[in-house]
Amino acid sequence: MLKALNIVGARPNLMKMAPVIAEMRRRPDAFDPFLVHTGQHYDESMSGSFFEELGIPKPDVNLGVGSASHAEQTGRIMIALQQVISDVKPDWVVVAGDVNSTMAAALAAVKLGLPVAHVEAGLRSRDRTMPEEINRIVTDAVAELLLTPSRDADSNLLNEGVSPEKIRFVGNVMIDTLYRELPRARGSKILERLGLEGSSFCVMTLHRPSNVDDKETLGGIFDAIGEIQTRMPVVFPVHPRTRTRLEEFGLSKVISRLGRLILTEPLGYLDFLQLYSNSKLVLTDSGGIQEETTALGIPCLTLRDNTERPITVTEGTNRIVGNDPEAIRREARAALDGARSAGKAPELWDGHAAVRIVDAIEEAQQRIRSREV
Ligand code: UD1
Repeated sequence: MLKALNIVGARPNLMKMAPVIAEMRRRPDAFDPFLVHTGQHYDESMSGSFFEELGIPKPDVNLGVGSASHAEQTGRIMIALQQVISDVKPDWVVVAGDVNSTMAAALAAVKLGLPVAHVEAGLRSRDRTMPEEINRIVTDAVAELLLTPSRDADSNLLNEGVSPEKIRFVGNVMIDTLYRELPRARGSKILERLGLEGSSFCVMTLHRPSNVDDKETLGGIFDAIGEIQTRMPVVFPVHPRTRTRLEEFGLSKVISRLGRLILTEPLGYLDFLQLYSNSKLVLTDSGGIQEETTALGIPCLTLRDNTERPITVTEGTNRIVGNDPEAIRREARAALDGARSAGKAPELWDGHAAVRIVDAIEEAQQRIRSREV
């Protein structure tokens, strides 16, 4: 029996860990999963609603760390998790993605001599000003098992000197959740609720510090959106960080004058899936949404200068546009006027990544046991 301490903390962890936890629960003779929520995200709209929708069991422990500076958030998670690890005595700690909770949990675990499995290992934007890039590098440096979503991630890890036996190409587990939930998302009433049934519309999400923490940059993005929304409605579910900044910078009034910009609270998984999967174009600075639009063949403009997910550009529907207003306007025009290419789901983005992930953890555990005897 393998006791796995599975860690979630922020919204994007939930759609990645849901299929992994479900797969472990399908193997009760082999796995004893234990779920820790760090409490990095704590609002119902950022966390609670996803547990219900995605059928994630109630966390066994919530560390309740909440919002704080990076150092404080990371430190609080490490201190609290150390105690949980001492009490629960897991065999493995499983982390996903690139948020502060991912790195903090990986560090706490490895310092106690525990093996860490990293789901979504090996992605690199090569932009060290992004907190997520630091989280990726640190987590991968200490993980025992690096579970990668694409072949470029394998190359990144090999180039950094990671031993090949630690790397397993398993595919994209977010896409497991996407394919599983798509039929249920079709029952969402979000299009009716927003008055968009049968209409063409765009969807935008923004939360990166590099876009939302600077007044000029954020204002510039809305200059570009001003033009796009004259052509069709733009739905904008507002992340809590972004809402705070819009108010702080006095931009809330400015954007309320954009008649076809529709602001909503952060949406649940099914509503959001129904929304963007019916849109003409998505504008985003999220990592996961670049992948989800690629899997569904929806055109996506990424409002960043780089991506850690290059396969969404080379094989998918994504374009890296940056945050210059003129570039956003130009690329949006081109995307809305141009013929839509279907794109294709990259290798092993097939809905079965969680099976391969859980298989790989079992095999890695056998490898460790055989080393011990
Ligand atoms: C975090 C991740 C980011 C991920 C994003 C998804 C890091 C470094 N960043 O960014 O990679 O794409 O989550 O959402 O881990 N807040 C609330 N309620 C909440 C959570 C946050 O109001 O439930 C507000 C707080 O004011 C907080 C701010 O949002 O200060 C930022 O939250 P935080 O978790 O630090 O970073 P995100 O910007 O959400």
